[in-house]
Amino acid sequence: MHAPDDLSRPRLATLLRTMPKAELHVHIEGTLEPELIFALARRNGVTLPHPDVESLRRAYAFQDLQSFLDIYYAGAGVLLREEDFYDMAMAYLRRAAADNVVHAEIFFDPQTHTMRGVEFGTVIQGLARARHDARQALGISSELIMCFLRHLPEESAFETLAAALPYREHILGVGLDSGEVGNPPEKFANVFRRCRELGWHAVAHAGEEGPPQYIWNALYELKAERIDHGVRCLDDPRLVAYLAEHRIPLTVCPLSNVMLKVYPSMAQHTVAELLEAGLCVTVNSDDPAYFGGYVNENLVACFEALPGLGVREARQLALNSFEASFAPEGDKEAWRRRLDGVFGATENAG
Ligand code: ADE
Ligand code: ZN
Repeated sequence: MHAPDDLSRPRLATLLRTMPKAELHVHIEGTLEPELIFALARRNGVTLPHPDVESLRRAYAFQDLQSFLDIYYAGAGVLLREEDFYDMAMAYLRRAAADNVVHAEIFFDPQTHTMRGVEFGTVIQGLARARHDARQALGISSELIMCFLRHLPEESAFETLAAALPYREHILGVGLDSGEVGNPPEKFANVFRRCRELGWHAVAHAGEEGPPQYIWNALYELKAERIDHGVRCLDDPRLVAYLAEHRIPLTVCPLSNVMLKVYPSMAQHTVAELLEAGLCVTVNSDDPAYFGGYVNENLVACFEALPGLGVREARQLALNSFEASFAPEGDKEAWRRRLDGVFGATENAG
């Protein structure tokens, strides 16, 4: 049911696109568009297993998380030099700013690159330069969250941490990604403890394909401040109550969930239910180059498919994205005022 103050669908879509928002769950390697993969392959003399952009795109038909990850890690193989990381991040930040993203907290997977012989410094210096330039040229603020690949041993995460230390001022927090089932959060309890001691924030992917117990363990064993995905919390009412009470944000990625068959279709996505349960849900793009859209396409797709979502929920999602971010309170206050400016215009509209 729509609230009485709801706008027509096209006007709601415009509102979703124009409202200021933060993006808190995007893997920078997942923003590598096929066109850029081919351009970087040419620049770096890398041979790709697909003859052209169209045939690469045709391979983006995923059965589950692992079938996606195989293609995603292969795509990242074209990233070799600092300017490659810069170009990728700049392209994302430009695209995000066009979606009225005012702030992005961006994941990167250093092990995907260091395992191929690319220096940690090459990765982070390219990303850091793009953050700086995007702030100057586009006014978008951004931060970096370093993810450990959970299919690798904790020892490899510790080696990555050692490589990151000279660049620690560029890093806001740590995360945990890659194949979830069989790689529970507690496998990384020691390295996360060390990272928290360094003053970094902690987040973790949990409850994407894995059970609610993985979410509990991310909270208790890793002290995760946000849960990435987390949609499977709905299988455990006690967990839903805990997440609501403690306002632990869930960074939900609707198009990703449909593409990776967590849900059979957008009409069956539970984002409206999660909001209804009082959770601090945010909508994000995860790997937009692979899943059919950036943050605005994710928002519009949910609101088109789910009748429980209207103007009130649009505003709530933007507010949640600011609340859930690790940005300074003063920035959050300024973004909320901008949001009021956009939503003020919808009052009494029908
Ligand atoms: N790495 C990139 N996208 C991911 C996802 N959706 N889940 C886990 N790891 C990922
Ligand atoms: Zn993710």
